[in-house]
Amino acid sequence: MQIAQSVIILLLTTECILAGKHGQRSRKKSKSKVPDKHGTDQSKQIEDMFRAHSYELSIRPKVEGQITKVGLGVMIESITDVSEKNMDFTLTLCLHETWVDPRLRFSSGGKGDSIVLPSRLIDKIWVPDIYIVGSKNSFIHKTTVNNVVLRLYSNGTIYYSVKITSTVACQMNLYNFPLDLESCSLTFQSLGYNNKEVVMEWVGGKDINDLFFDPGLVTSMPKFRLIHHQFLASNQSDSASYNAENKSSLQVMFELKRYPLSFFLQSYFPAMSMVTLAGLGMWIDPRSVPARVALGVTSVLTIATIITGMKSSLPKVSYLTAMDIYLWVCFLFVFATVLQFCALNYFMKRQQNRKARIHRTSAKTSFESWRKKICCFSDDPAALDIFFRLGYFITFLLFNVAYWVYYVILTYHDV
Ligand SMILES: *[C@@H]1O[C@H](CO)[C@@H](O)[C@H](O)[C@H]1NC(C)=O
Ligand SMILES: *[C@@H]1O[C@H](CO)[C@@H](O)[C@H](O)[C@H]1NC(C)=O
Ligand SMILES: *[C@@H]1O[C@H](CO)[C@@H](O)[C@H](O)[C@H]1NC(C)=O
Repeated sequence: MQIAQSVIILLLTTECILAGKHGQRSRKKSKSKVPDKHGTDQSKQIEDMFRAHSYELSIRPKVEGQITKVGLGVMIESITDVSEKNMDFTLTLCLHETWVDPRLRFSSGGKGDSIVLPSRLIDKIWVPDIYIVGSKNSFIHKTTVNNVVLRLYSNGTIYYSVKITSTVACQMNLYNFPLDLESCSLTFQSLGYNNKEVVMEWVGGKDINDLFFDPGLVTSMPKFRLIHHQFLASNQSDSASYNAENKSSLQVMFELKRYPLSFFLQSYFPAMSMVTLAGLGMWIDPRSVPARVALGVTSVLTIATIITGMKSSLPKVSYLTAMDIYLWVCFLFVFATVLQFCALNYFMKRQQNRKARIHRTSAKTSFESWRKKICCFSDDPAALDIFFRLGYFITFLLFNVAYWVYYVILTYHDV
């Protein structure tokens, strides 16, 4: 009996000791679990929220009234190509959007607590349906994961960023090409919501350093120099849509000035030297027909080649660009030297024939004397050469002065 009693007591004390130890352990466990438990709480809250409101969350959040305010910031990483042939430009940018969705508030330990949502949850909540007006082709980067990130603050503020490469149409005005100034714009607009529902506004800095990831990338653009940029906000009327609504629209304007040097080396300089060369050809003795014909025809062909080469890199515009005017005038100059030589050759033949005739008969007809008055060169073809080459170089010089003064003044733009 006593033995049994002592065994029970022993068992009870062991149990007590064990229970105490266990209690200690579990208390220790729960102590070390505090931040852990808290973390599980947060993700649990969010998971619960998504489970409970999965449908509702994809509807526009309405804060203080009806309008959803979306702040927009843009950071351009590079402008890789400004193409006048396709009339567009390609750029890579990071678009930052921010808005408040009170339904996504969660309780947190500290103020300003935030979490980054995985992309599978981003698909389930409302994000603004912003598109780039005039984009021909765009994509969201996918290396190494989808370049879309959403940070949710405990007070319901959302920061959403996405990295996009887009080719955007830019209507270029090539009248002054290659001394032209192009103005291209990047416009963001909501696809479905009017300005009574979603209003966008620029947030963040508007300086060039805020707009560009690395300003060095902009100054090193190969064909253009960025001389001016501007942030604009407007309400665009979308009269084509079914209920003629106004839409909130944000725009960044770029003014780009072309570097003309490469065109000078590629076209102006060769054309100019061809005109000079063809002009110098008039000093060659007119009796060496092959030399002068060859020089004239070669110059005409060279300028024709320059014009064709130039045209192939430009869109087929229906007007004359500044460069077209220059090259076609050069073409006319060179062509004139060929025509001049033909005339000269003709008059020389005539003179030879007449000399032969005068030898035969010294009688002069009245027709002959009349013709002599009309054309002073027929008697002395060499005078035609001298007169023509003088006029040729003076006219070309005057044309150049007028052309460059006109276009440089017209397109002057102080930075
Ligand atoms: C929410 O919290 C973030 C981070 O603390 C803060 O920047 C933001 O202004 C807050 N928004 C509101 C509406 O209180
Ligand atoms: C556009 O319209 C909204 C009203 O829906 C207004 O709050 C906003 O100031 C307007 N923006 C501009 C640039 O006029
Ligand atoms: C759009 O804006 C114009 C003026 O900016 C206004 O006259 C017109 O009534 C607006 N349309 C709608 C549907 O609000």
